[in-house]
Parts: sequence; structure tokens; C-alpha cells
Amino acid sequence: MTNRSRNLLLFVTVFIHLVLSKENKHQTTSFLQQVVSSSDCTLFNDVLQYTYDFTTLSASSVSVQADQDKEKIRFRLCSPLKQMCNGHDGYCVCLSKDDKEIGIGKFPPSLKYENGTSQFIYSGDPCQPGRNYTVHVIMKCDYAAVQTSPEIIPQGPDQCVIHMIWRTNLACARSNKHSCIYVDEFNNTYDLSSLTSLSDNHVVHIDDKTEMMINVCHTTIHEHGATCYGAPAACLKNSTDPNNVDYINYGELMYPSSLTMKDGKLQIKYDNGYLCQDKRTVLTTHQTTIYFICDPSASPDREAEYDPESGPCHYKFTWKTRAACNATRLREYRSANASKCTIVDPTTKWEYKLQSLMNQDFIVNASSSKQYKFRICGPLQNSRCAKETGICDAQNFTSAGNANANLMWQHGGPYLNYTDGAACGNGQRRYTLIAFVCGAEGSSDAPVVLKDEPCSLIIHWYTDRVCKRRILCATAKNETNLLPLIRSSKNYVIKAMGKEFHINICRPMAPTPNIVCPHGSAVCQTVRDSRGQYTNETSLGFPDQNPVLDGDENVILNYYRGSPCPEHPEKNISSSFKFFCDYNGDEGLPQYKNYSNCHYIFEWRTNIVCSTVMGEWVAPCTIKDASHPRELDLSLLYEKPIKPEVVSNKEKNWSINICGGKDHCNGSAICQGTNGYGTDLNVRFNYRTNVISLKYSNGTKCNNKPYESELLLICSNTSGIGKPALSLDANCMASFKWLTNIACAGGGYNAATTPVAAITETPSADNLKNYGSAQTWIVTISVLVVLVIGLWLCMRNSQRCGRLRSRIEAITSSRNHSRVQYSRVNTTEEARLLLDTSDPHTLDEQIDSDDELLGV
Ligand SMILES: *[C@@H]1O[C@H](CO)[C@@H](O)[C@H](O)[C@H]1NC(C)=O
Ligand SMILES: *[C@@H]1O[C@H](CO)[C@@H](O)[C@H](O)[C@H]1NC(C)=O
Ligand SMILES: *[C@@H]1O[C@H](CO)[C@@H](O)[C@H](O)[C@H]1NC(C)=O
Ligand SMILES: *[C@@H]1O[C@H](CO)[C@@H](O)[C@H](O)[C@H]1NC(C)=O
Ligand SMILES: *[C@@H]1O[C@H](CO)[C@@H](O)[C@H](O)[C@H]1NC(C)=O
Ligand SMILES: *[C@@H]1O[C@H](CO)[C@@H](O)[C@H](O)[C@H]1NC(C)=O
Ligand SMILES: *[C@@H]1O[C@H](CO)[C@@H](O)[C@H](O)[C@H]1NC(C)=O
Ligand SMILES: *[C@@H]1O[C@H](CO)[C@@H](O)[C@H](O)[C@H]1NC(C)=O
Ligand SMILES: *[C@@H]1O[C@H](CO)[C@@H](O)[C@H](O)[C@H]1NC(C)=O
Ligand SMILES: *[C@@H]1O[C@H](CO)[C@@H](O)[C@H](O)[C@H]1NC(C)=O
Ligand SMILES: *[C@@H]1O[C@H](CO)[C@@H](O)[C@H](O)[C@H]1NC(C)=O
Repeated sequence: MTNRSRNLLLFVTVFIHLVLSKENKHQTTSFLQQVVSSSDCTLFNDVLQYTYDFTTLSASSVSVQADQDKEKIRFRLCSPLKQMCNGHDGYCVCLSKDDKEIGIGKFPPSLKYENGTSQFIYSGDPCQPGRNYTVHVIMKCDYAAVQTSPEIIPQGPDQCVIHMIWRTNLACARSNKHSCIYVDEFNNTYDLSSLTSLSDNHVVHIDDKTEMMINVCHTTIHEHGATCYGAPAACLKNSTDPNNVDYINYGELMYPSSLTMKDGKLQIKYDNGYLCQDKRTVLTTHQTTIYFICDPSASPDREAEYDPESGPCHYKFTWKTRAACNATRLREYRSANASKCTIVDPTTKWEYKLQSLMNQDFIVNASSSKQYKFRICGPLQNSRCAKETGICDAQNFTSAGNANANLMWQHGGPYLNYTDGAACGNGQRRYTLIAFVCGAEGSSDAPVVLKDEPCSLIIHWYTDRVCKRRILCATAKNETNLLPLIRSSKNYVIKAMGKEFHINICRPMAPTPNIVCPHGSAVCQTVRDSRGQYTNETSLGFPDQNPVLDGDENVILNYYRGSPCPEHPEKNISSSFKFFCDYNGDEGLPQYKNYSNCHYIFEWRTNIVCSTVMGEWVAPCTIKDASHPRELDLSLLYEKPIKPEVVSNKEKNWSINICGGKDHCNGSAICQGTNGYGTDLNVRFNYRTNVISLKYSNGTKCNNKPYESELLLICSNTSGIGKPALSLDANCMASFKWLTNIACAGGGYNAATTPVAAITETPSADNLKNYGSAQTWIVTISVLVVLVIGLWLCMRNSQRCGRLRSRIEAITSSRNHSRVQYSRVNTTEEARLLLDTSDPHTLDEQIDSDDELLGV
């Protein structure tokens, strides 16, 4: 290319850019007006071409704990509450206070999308003379928040205005992400995913007026203070003009990965941000590079720092973090700092700190007559045991081990080994293992002695302090979860082949005296010796991975990394549980199936994995789904005041009063003459058919057995409250159907699991019709500019030519679109990488598989 033509091209470029940069300001501001339309429970963000749909959150009412314990708020997002508030209908927000109800928010709310945040605003009854209550509900994007409830923001001095915040993934716009794992040429693996934020951007202050919002391997959270156009992973906020805050896209994720290693420095580069003109008046796009510097002592919440060497179009940051360290470096650091009561999990690089347990005495019972007193990471004070003792027998004051702060790591969690206690025979000295486990929710949070032997003492301590990440216990799209099967205090115990299996689901087994498997194991196999003592404990694996779906309704939960396999000592034992739906069953119990090739298989017939879910009865007249945070008030089936419904055939009259309690028919909801048709209730929700089944058993005597009955509440939108009807009158049992719209609230029982669309799509022509002519003008210019830059870059570097051509094609084919949209999904590889991040389960799965990838 001749110099002349290059100069000409440069001139054209600069000229167009000048025109554009004038428009540019315009464009940022006009885009940020964020024209929004709303209807029902959805808000449309014109800029992102994205609809926020909160409908599922409004499927039924939720209760919100208010400021004071005595206050409670009943709340339904975009429909009136089914139950009256203070005797009146038409409220969405009802405050109960000292047995009084106040309607603080009426239906309908006004929906507002402002500064990147969706808000629902309700006005209510009078609060002070001339002023009514107002409720603001702010929808906060949190990609990891599914099935949540709103929280009250503690009240300011103004009692008439109530603010709530609802963290939910439904408030998130679509997002992109890619793997955060890098393996270098020496086979060191780095995982930066601990720096990925799913709810709040990392903010780096650049000067008084500018700050950069960044995320790692994930787009920034599009919300108040970070309303950049496009799908940035770095978004600059410039408040130089406070009346006209400017947001600039400083680069997007690169595919397949933005994460590279250059000159021994782990770095992330985001590119293809907004257009920028650098010092040499060359047009480029805004870029951001983050350099990750290994610092094993860096606190996990340490943020990136701005590098003042940055140019205007290319901002650079350095981020000191433990995640950028190789295993060798971490090990060195650990051994040099071994006395700090902290430990880093070499796989996840997460740091576990137990300093909060230091400097206090704990007492643990080993038997009815034996107690030990101990401290964590330090010696006992004023103890009658020797000076260095960390754990002391409280009866005869002998040491069970000297203290140290050398917290160590095993796959199941951190542990301490206190050694050099009192002599225990054979020239040996006592030692004590204190292992910390992230157990099931609701674990005791107290140390438990598992084994007390002459030379060793084993204590397990189940505590949330070491819970960095519990698996969700749900399948990838939350089709089903096994949460109801988790045991917090007693394991499932089954016997087979002369062995005993102590089992928990998705969580470590509950601590069981006399059984010591590697701490954190989900399944422990033991044998009883001739004296009935447990021996030969063997771990069958750890709860590291979420269950997976196998076909329609079968769910498989796998546990890996168990004890070494006796037949193949180089392999670890693993196990799997296969769950089958049993509609007529209950939660069920595991069954041993077979063992081969170091792998144990168990089967489990249960109704948990059916589309039917067990419910429970909550007095006075509510049923609750045990695995979804939803409830249904059955008094809604009756006009007020409640009168029993009577159902008749030729011979009999049944009176049905679900809410009758003891007053109706001696506690039976269904009654015929003096026959009570059952006092014990079994509730099931079937989400596939939208039927709620109420099964009553243990009624009054009928021949030899008790009366039983069944009432099916069947969703029917057109039936109103509806009426019950007899469907079967059999010997000692009757069955009724009740078509009602009340059961349709159940349509929302499996609410909040609908994933938000995630893969970026080019907006359809329809969506774009309303774009003003100014935008069309900008578009045309943008296209021209890109074409010109493209040509020019092409001439400078032929390698980029191919890539540019496809980008230009992408732009011109979506001509109407207002931005340089060339990060399109144009190969299947890219499509695969544009993972659905709006669904946090996918992310969790991803983390899981990342763990696998690390293979430690
Ligand atoms: C939006 O931002 C403006 C200016 O910062 C502020 O005055 C206003 O209160 C914000 N609105 C919301 C809903 O945060
Ligand atoms: C308060 O609400 C009442 C109806 O409940 C309405 O008549 C009145 O105009 C409202 N007052 C204000 C200040 O909005
Ligand atoms: C680990 O990182 C350190 C610097 O942090 C470096 O000196 C060392 O060579 C690295 N080791 C390996 C095995 O890559
Ligand atoms: C330990 O044993 C003592 C006395 O036998 C008893 O008072 C105490 O409640 C026990 N503590 C626990 C945690 O079981
Ligand atoms: C704890 O220390 C004792 C005594 O040195 C040793 O025999 C035992 O193997 C150690 N246990 C663990 C799990 O580190
Ligand atoms: C326990 O394990 C040992 C060694 O692995 C083995 O010899 C012994 O037979 C096992 N005991 C039982 C009761 O299975
Ligand atoms: C077996 O488990 C141990 C302890 O968790 C681990 O160090 C080892 O790498 C595992 N082996 C295999 C083959 O997974
Ligand atoms: C173990 O059981 C599984 C599932 O029932 C079956 O597929 C497999 O063939 C069985 N293996 C053996 C060795 O019996
Ligand atoms: C059922 O109730 C109706 C209305 O109260 C009454 O007329 C009828 O006789 C009753 N039938 C029987 C079998 O008790
Ligand atoms: C309730 O029980 C009492 C005594 O067991 C019985 O006399 C009475 O008839 C029962 N009432 C009804 C409505 O069945
Ligand atoms: C059935 O009811 C009777 C009396 O109401 C009660 O004693 C009994 O325990 C109940 N049986 C079951 C299985 O719940």
C-alpha cells in the first residue's frame, strides 16, 4: 500500500471518528435514558433489548420478616394478595403489627426501570395526615439467587416509606462467561473463578470522577452504576459531569478465552469495547487488561488496582491474589506460615481460617464419665495439664496432645493434629485429631468425640465456619432436587454383605460415635467385629458434585475420592445412588445394589424425584411444599365465614371442612354421619398435572380398618373457588375432586426456576422498529467506520483480515443494530462457550467440573 493511500485512509478514519465522537456523547446519554415499557410483571429494557420477567416471583405470596420480631409483611409482587388485608381486598403488601393489619401497598404497583434497576412502587393506606405508606421494592440482580424472598432494608426515621430489596437472578440481564481456568506450560493450573462476582461488580477507583466496574471471566452486572451498553466485562463510569454520567464499554470477553499467560504473567484482556481514539489519533476499541500477580498472603477480598501507566483507550490493572499462585508457591508459603490457624485448600485455593475459635476453652464429652478440655490452635491456659497441652483429660489431667496452630488439609476439610501427649504404651504418645467439617444445614456446631482410644482421640466438629461451598443438591436446571433427603443428625444406615453403610445425601454423613471415616465423607462403610465394635471404616466418597438427570425421572448422585480401593490400591473407591420415582412411596430408603470395579451402586425408590413433591400441613389451615418456599392457604377454598361443603350421592351426605380442626367431626376434615374419614393428612403437590392431593387416613373404625379419604384439588382457571364433588364411594374410603383456581397458584410452585435467556441474540427487526432516526444515522456511521478501520487494519496485518471480514459481515447483516456487534456466536465452538450464566446451577456444575479438571 502506498503512503498516499494510507494517509487518505487515515484522514477518512479520523474525519468519520470526529463526526462520530460528536454523536457518541449523544448516543451514550440518549441510550441511558433507557426507554422502558412495562406490563403486568415484566419490564422491557430498550437499550439491552431485554425483558425482565418477574411473573414467577408473583405466583404466590411470600412473607417478609420486618424490622421488629412482632411485625410481619405479607407480600405478593404483581397481583393482589389472595387473603384480605385488614378486611379488604386489593393489597399487594400487608403489614401485621400487634395483631393489627395495615395495607401498606395497593395493587397495582407502578413499575419503574431507573438507573439500570427495576423497581416496584406501591402506595398504601394513610400513614400520617396527608401522607400514605409507600413501599419500594428494588429488584437486585444476583445470578446465584434462585427461589429467594425479599428482605426489608432497615427503616430510616421515616416510618411511612418502606424499602425492600429482592435479590434474584430474574433481575439480571443476559450475560456471558467463559472458563476461568488456565493451565500453563509447566502444567500449573490456575483458577480465577473465586474472583468472578455474580452479584456485585468489582469497583476500582481511577480518580475522583471515574471508576471502573470489572468482572472476571464474566460480564459485569448491568445495574445501577454500571449501565454500559453491550455486554462489557469492564465498564467505566465517568461522573465528570454529574448531570450526565457517562458509561463506556471498556471491553468484552474474548472467545474462547480472555485468560492468557504472557511473559510469565497471568492476564485477562477484554477487547472490542466502545470505539476510542488514542494519542496517535488512531481509532481502536477500548480495551482492558488485568494482570494477576501471585500473592499468597493477599486477602480474598483484595481488589484490583489501577495502573497509572494506562493509556486512554487501554486501561490496565494489577490484581494481587492467591488465585494466581502456583501450587509450589502456595506450599512454600504454607510451610513458612504454618502457625497461623489458617489453611488453603490446594484445589480451590480457598483459605480456611479458624482464628475465631482461638483463645477459648471447649469441653467435649467422650463418655458419660469422661470429658476433655481443649483449645483450637493454642495451648490451654491455667490447666492442670502440662504447659503446652492443647487437649487435656479433665479427670486425670493427662495430655491427649500438645497444641499447635498448624491447620492441615484433607479433602473433607481442615484439621489439627495435636501430638506428643502422655505416653500410651509401646513407647508411643497420645495424639488427637480435631477435624472440621461443613456438614448438613442444621448440624450441631459442637465438637463430637468419635473415637477415644489409648493412643488416639478423634474429634469431629461440624461447623458452618468451614462451609465455602455446599453443593446445591439439585440437577442442572433445578428440575429436581434431593434436599428433603439430607439428614442433619442421623444417617441412613443399611446393611448388606455383612457390612453397614452409613449414608447421607449431598452432605457429609452426620457424626456418629465410634465410626471414623475420613472427615467429610458422604458414605462410610464399616464392619462390626466379633464384639460388635465398628472396624475397617472405608469412605465411599465425598459430596462434591450435584446430582445429574439420567433420562426422564431418574436422578444419579455420584460420590468420588473415597478410600483406596483394596483390589486396586492406586484407585479410589467411588459410589453412586440412582433414584427412581415411586409415586406411591414416601421418601424411601437406599438399597445396596452391587459392587464392582471399586464402585458401589445403591438404588433408592422415592417420591422425591417424581414430579410430585411431599407437602406438609401447617395449622391452622395452610399447606406447604417441603422443597419449595411456597405455601397455600386452604381457607381460600371457602367463603367467609367458613361453612363446611356438603357433597351428596343417593345414600350419603359428606361434609367437607378442611380447616375445621378438632371442631369438625372430631378432627376429620371429611365426615359422613358419625364416620370421620381420617385425621392424619398426607399432602402431595404434583407439578406436572397441577394437582394437590390431600390424603386422610386413620379415621374412625369401618369394619376392620379405619376410614380413609382422598381429596384432589385440581387446578382449573375457569372454576373460581369451585366446589368439591364425589368421585368414588368405596368400602371404607371415599374420594373427592375439587376443581378450583386456588390450586393453580401451584402453577407457580415450581416458580423461579425458569432460566433467563442467556445467549445474546441479535434483536429482531420488530424490536428495532422504534429506533429513532438519530440512531439509524449513528448506525450508518458506525458501520462505515468499522468498514474503514477494517480495511485499514486489514492492509496493516493480513492475519486479522479474515476475522474482520466475518465481523463486518455480522454488522452489515444486522444493519439496523446500533452497536458494533461483532462478538456474535458465529462458530459452534463459540456457541458452546457462551454458557448460560443466568442459571446459577449451570455455574455450579461448571465449578464442579472445574474441580474435576484440577483432578486433585
Ligand atoms: C438514579 O440516579 C440519580 C442520579 O444519580 C439519582 O438521583 C436517583 O435517585 C437514582 N435513582 C435510583 C432509583 O436509584
Ligand atoms: C392516600 O390514599 C387515599 C386512598 O386510600 C387517597 O384518597 C389519597 O389521595 C392518598 N393521599 C396521598 C397524599 O397520596
Ligand atoms: C511458581 O511460581 C513462582 C513465582 O511465584 C516461580 O518462581 C516458580 O518457578 C513457579 N513454579 C512452577 C513449578 O511453575
Ligand atoms: C457432658 O457431660 C456432662 C456431665 O456428664 C453433662 O452435664 C453435659 O451436659 C454433657 N455435655 C454435652 C454437650 O453432652
Ligand atoms: C497425627 O499425628 C500422629 C502422631 O505423629 C500420626 O501417627 C498420625 O498419622 C497423624 N495423623 C494425621 C491424619 O496427620
Ligand atoms: C478389616 O481389614 C483387614 C485388612 O484390610 C482385613 O484383614 C480384615 O479381614 C477386615 N475385617 C473384616 C471384619 O472385614
Ligand atoms: C485418591 O484420594 C486421595 C485422597 O483424597 C487423593 O490424594 C488421590 O489423588 C486420589 N486418587 C485418585 C486416583 O483419584
Ligand atoms: C450392578 O448394577 C447395575 C445397575 O443395576 C447394573 O447395570 C450392573 O450390570 C451391575 N453390575 C454387576 C457386576 O452386577
Ligand atoms: C342429605 O342432606 C340433604 C339436605 O340437607 C337431605 O335432604 C338429605 O336427606 C340427606 N341425605 C341423607 C342420605 O342423609
Ligand atoms: C365425636 O366423638 C364422640 C365420642 O368419641 C362421639 O360421641 C361423637 O359422636 C363424635 N362426633 C362426631 C361429629 O362424630
Ligand atoms: C390413629 O388415631 C388414634 C386415635 O386418634 C391414635 O391413637 C393412633 O396413634 C393413630 N394411628 C396412627 C397410625 O397415626
